[in-house]
Amino acid sequence: MSAIPISVENLRAGYGGDDILNGITFDVRPGEVFTIIGPNGSGKSSLIKVLAGIVPVREGRISLFGRDVTHLKTAQRIAAGLAYVPQEFNVFRNMTVGENLRLATEFIGLRGGVAQSERDRVLGMFPDVAGRLGVQAGTLSGGQRQMLAFACALISAPDVLLLDEPSAGLSPRLAGEIFEAVQTVNAQGTTVILVEQNVAAALPVSDRVLVLVNGAVRRLAPATDLKARDDLAQLFLGEA
Ligand SMILES: Nc1ncnc2c1ncn2[C@@H]1O[C@H](COP(=O)(O)OP(=O)(O)OP(=O)(O)O)[C@@H](O)[C@H]1O
Ligand SMILES: [Mg+2]
Repeated sequence: MSAIPISVENLRAGYGGDDILNGITFDVRPGEVFTIIGPNGSGKSSLIKVLAGIVPVREGRISLFGRDVTHLKTAQRIAAGLAYVPQEFNVFRNMTVGENLRLATEFIGLRGGVAQSERDRVLGMFPDVAGRLGVQAGTLSGGQRQMLAFACALISAPDVLLLDEPSAGLSPRLAGEIFEAVQTVNAQGTTVILVEQNVAAALPVSDRVLVLVNGAVRRLAPATDLKARDDLAQLFLGEA
């Protein structure tokens, strides 16, 4: 088993006749927070969906700890240590908070006391969610729903966590809580791949940053290098 959590080689993927991801190559290092930024429509969600097994690979290869998962289904990737929180539609809105969490434990085959202790473990990280177990998930605020989706993903104690814009639409306070949770999970040993528009808030919790422009890697650099730059906007536009 390789120590590299995720390795992506010359990845091509898209929808219909068009390729959206045009030959992407990168390795994610063990234990890092690897952040993907880039303009709207640059392919960030598509890349995360390809890693999660939701959008098929047209060319290239994805490895998870050295194992070729390029053509594995999402459930098989989850069994191999991956978890994914989508940008949208990430909880069952017509179910309660508690039912969402129960489904998450059932999905990975946990029962009884083990399932309960797993739920208690993740709820300890999200007090906003823990106090609302009987509430319909659809009536939660956007931030609370994001916390619930995050909590459900952590039920499997994933080795690699994929988060697509977890702070989107949140107040600075709630976004701060999300980034704190990212740091906590990361400190416990989970490698995190994070897609973010909120670059200023994401950089302090990130180890390295991939700038994706038009479905290609524009830059891959330590977060500290990007923090020092005052021309991020130009980098985004692909001019720098
Ligand atoms: N299911 C789909 N079918 C067809 N085209 C799609 C589909 N999903 C995304 N696309 C197209 O792929 C391109 C990249 O979209 P994607 O959602 O990956 O971008 P993004 O970088 O995540 O954008 P945002 O910052 O707005 O979330 C866009 O042109 C989009 O229209
Ligand atoms: Mg997106």
